[in-house]
Order: sequence, then structure tokens, then C-alpha cells
Amino acid sequence: MSNPNSNRRTFAIISHPDAGKTTLTEKLLLQGGAIHLAGEVKARGAARRARSDWMKIEQQRGISVTSSVMTFEKEYEGETITFNLLDTPGHEDFSEDTYRTLTAVDSAIMVIDAAKGIEPQTRKLFEVCRLRSVPIITFVNKVDREGRALFEILDEVADALALDVSPQSAPLGMGGLFKGILDFSSDTVAKPEGGSKEYLGTREPLGDLPDDLAEEIELTREGYPQFDLEAYRNGDLTPVFFGSALKNFGVEELIDAIARWAPPPRPQPAGDEQIPPSRNEVTGFIFKVQANMDPNHRDRIAFMRMVSGTFKRGMKLTPSGLGKPIAIHSPILFFAQDRELADTAEAGDIIGIPNHGTLRVGDTLSEKNAIRFSGLPNFAPEILRRVQLRDPTKTKQLRKALDDLSEEGVIQVFYPEIGAQWIVGVVGQLQLEVLISRLEAEYKVEAGLEASPFATARWVKGPESAVKTFEEFNRANLAKDRDGDMVFMAKSPWDVNYQAEKHPDLTFSATKER
Ligand code: G4P
Repeated sequence: MSNPNSNRRTFAIISHPDAGKTTLTEKLLLQGGAIHLAGEVKARGAARRARSDWMKIEQQRGISVTSSVMTFEKEYEGETITFNLLDTPGHEDFSEDTYRTLTAVDSAIMVIDAAKGIEPQTRKLFEVCRLRSVPIITFVNKVDREGRALFEILDEVADALALDVSPQSAPLGMGGLFKGILDFSSDTVAKPEGGSKEYLGTREPLGDLPDDLAEEIELTREGYPQFDLEAYRNGDLTPVFFGSALKNFGVEELIDAIARWAPPPRPQPAGDEQIPPSRNEVTGFIFKVQANMDPNHRDRIAFMRMVSGTFKRGMKLTPSGLGKPIAIHSPILFFAQDRELADTAEAGDIIGIPNHGTLRVGDTLSEKNAIRFSGLPNFAPEILRRVQLRDPTKTKQLRKALDDLSEEGVIQVFYPEIGAQWIVGVVGQLQLEVLISRLEAEYKVEAGLEASPFATARWVKGPESAVKTFEEFNRANLAKDRDGDMVFMAKSPWDVNYQAEKHPDLTFSATKER
């Protein structure tokens, strides 16, 4: 099983836009001593945006489209804990990027705006965590403001997760539910007298607490189960913290909860096997590739989640997609403000590997090249569009751009067997905007999108002869994806069912394991 002694905590913060993810990230990094001034995460973000045009959308919409890794350390009970925080895109459209990021973490913090409760996209994020068995700590943010009734929010959380919620932090030694956050009984904090609005904390004062919040918390707590570590780690229970990222309230308790409860690196599935972090061999997988992080250099960083072993700089690892070993001379560790060369890395760590396209999302890297990690799927696109090139002399650039961007997971690309118009598929509308903007900014390709006759796509697999027969009769509806694998382009879901019934020896899958 996982190594209970590991001091690594690899987690993601997920939320609906505006719930306070950026603010919370900033405060977590501050607590960890990784940055010294609040606002620096945003400031850095602004600097980065100024340098790269493609983040225009981000600026316009005030959202963060890319995800990144931030490592920081903090002492907890005499031990140094290394936190690897993976940021996820906070946009409204559920994206593949979010899903893939969740394959690389061992747990997640879900941030909810107390005033808004659970919104539909948040529900989807919960579902994805459930699907990936990622245990969740829920942080109900912005309790410094008048919000919804707490029990209502808890009910929604429970409903979204179809599991127990546990609004308590007793194991933190605070003597009761929510105390990790609102800490009414702690010696160091003045306890508000019944109904008092004033809260005097050891940290920044919370200011005016909404009337009756303390009482409400006490009442709410009663209806919910006690915290149970095993249930949380199994993903059957979520401890709920109430706090305020802006007022830096409850943030320290949140970090402590992660240090104390969040699971250390877990085994990863590789076919029928589970590869434990204690395995001697260095293994890992690529969950994200980011091209053009610096527009002046066509560099590409592949993000590898270490699954086992101790990596040393210069080590040779074999990527499953390449088949021959490569020496990794300049692995990068991502600290809050800096990138550093990584001399060593362990299970749970994320390292960035600069490369020129040799590493792909879903690749396994290992010393012996004997295992393949599974579980990073491609999603069936829900929106399909034809790409219309404005300048026909730019076909080559367009092809390269589409290949690159599909590799990053921004889009999926389908090259029809008949006809010259390429099709892109996405799960959410925003991906299309990112596509057009990046085509222009990074590849100098002006393109438009037009309706395609297709509604969805399915990867076709089966015995060679059956595939061949299918191909002969359906050429007009077939395409190849970036890897050259066959995809059936369907005009409707009905079409998929019909073909599946007609060809029982073929499988039509909505997702493709990489
Ligand atoms: P996001 O990354 O999830 O999109 O959210 P972000 O942290 O950017 O926060 C969204 C807004 O909510 C920001 O206000 C932020 O200051 C505010 N906020 C975050 N945490 C709290 C909290 O605990 N209490 C209160 N009252 N507000 C909070 P903004 O006006 O949109 O941005 P800004 O001008 O303050 O930067």
C-alpha cells in the first residue's frame, strides 16, 4: 500500500470560478513561507500574461486557463512536509485538463463560495473526483460575508457527493466541529459571547461575523457524522471547513488537515497491477504537456507525476511512447516563485521535463520499460467543428498547430478519410476560443470554425477483418485521430447505437485510453 511515512502531499485545489481558489492558493503559499507577500501569485500571473498573448482570453474573462504546479514546505509536528499543489483551470467548462490533473494528485480541496453554494459545474468536479477516487476536503469560503445557511450548503455537498459530510475538525484538537476554522473555544482566542459579532483571532481578525453564525455552526454540526480518517481516505466522507481565504482565516487549519489527513502518494494502476510508491524502480507518467510556455522558445514542458523510486538528475528513463531511453538532464521543480533544477525527486513529486515533442500525455516513464500506467482517457468530444483556414498556404502550420494543441489536450483533432477539412472536437465551448486565440498568437494562423455534420465521435476497435469491412462501408464517416487511430464520426447518438448493433464484434468507445 502507500507509504505511510511519506512526507509528500500532492493535491489539487478545485472550484467554480470566483469561489476564491487564487486567494486561497496565495494564502496557502504564504503559510508555507513560499511567498512573502499576498498578491504575488496574481502579480506573477499578470507578468506571465503580459508575455504571452494567448492568455488574452484569460485576461478578458478573468479566468485561469492553464494549470501549474507549486511546491512548498511546512513543518508539521516536527516533520517537514512537502506539499505539491496542482492548480486546475477554474473555467466554467469542465475540461480534460482538470480531469488529467486529478489523475496526478492524491487528494483535493474543493472550494465553495458560501454565498453561492454548489453550482452545476462544481457538481461535475465532485463527480470527477468520485470517479477517480480522489478524497476531498471541502472548504466553504467567504464566511466573513452574509451567505447561505450552512446546513443548506452541507446538504448540497452531501448530495453532490452522494456521501457523508463531516463538518468537524475534532482531530485537530480544537474540541469540536468547525473549530479548526472558527475556533471558538481555543484558549488563544476570545470566544464570542452568544450572538456576538466580534471575533478576535490570533491571526487576522475575521471582523464582523454574520449574526448567529456561531450558533448556526453548532446546530449544523449535530446532524452530521463524526470525522473518520478511513472513510475520508476512501472518498466516503468529506470533512468540511468553514473559513475565509481573504481574511486568512482557517487557512492554517486547512494546511494542517492536509498534512495530517491527506493521503501520502498512493499506488497507481498499470493494467492489472498496482505500482506502489515503495517500488525501487523510478516510474512516473506524463499528465500534462504545455507547449510555448515561453513564446520566444518553442519549448515544451512535460509534467511527470512520480509514482515510485528516487529520481536523480541525469537519470535515463524510457518513455513508453518512444521505446528507447532518454537522459533527463534538466528536470524542473516548480516552487511558488521559481523554477529550480531538480536534483532528486520522489514518489508524489511533479517534475517538468523540457523536450521537443518526444513526451506525450499518457506516456509512462520508467527505468525498465516494463509497465504502462493506465487511466488517462481521452474524452468523447461533445462539440465538433470544421476548421476553416483563411490563408490556404498555411496548411502545414495549421496541421502542426492542431497536432500540438491536441497533444496538450486543448482540443481533439480528427482528419477525415475523405475531404480536406479537418475537424476539431472539444468538451466545452471555451476550448474553441482558446484554440482560435492560440492559433493566431503562437502559430500565426488565422482560422475560423464552422458547423460540422457530426455530433459525436467514437474510437473503433475490433478484429482486423471486421474493422476493414466497417471501414469499406463507412469511409465517408471515418477519420483518423492524431495517433492515426480510427474514429467513427457519428451524426447522432442514434447512429452510434445503430452501428454498434450492426457490428457486434466491434467496440465503439467514447473515450480512448492513451
Ligand atoms: P478564483 O481564483 O476561484 O476565481 O477566485 P479569486 O481568488 O480570484 O476570488 C474571487 C473574488 O472573491 C475576489 O474578489 C476575491 O478577493 C474574493 N474573495 C476570495 N476569498 C474571499 C473571502 O474569504 N471573503 C470575501 N469576502 N471575498 C473573498 P474580486 O473583487 O473579484 O477580486 P479582487 O479585486 O479582490 O482581486
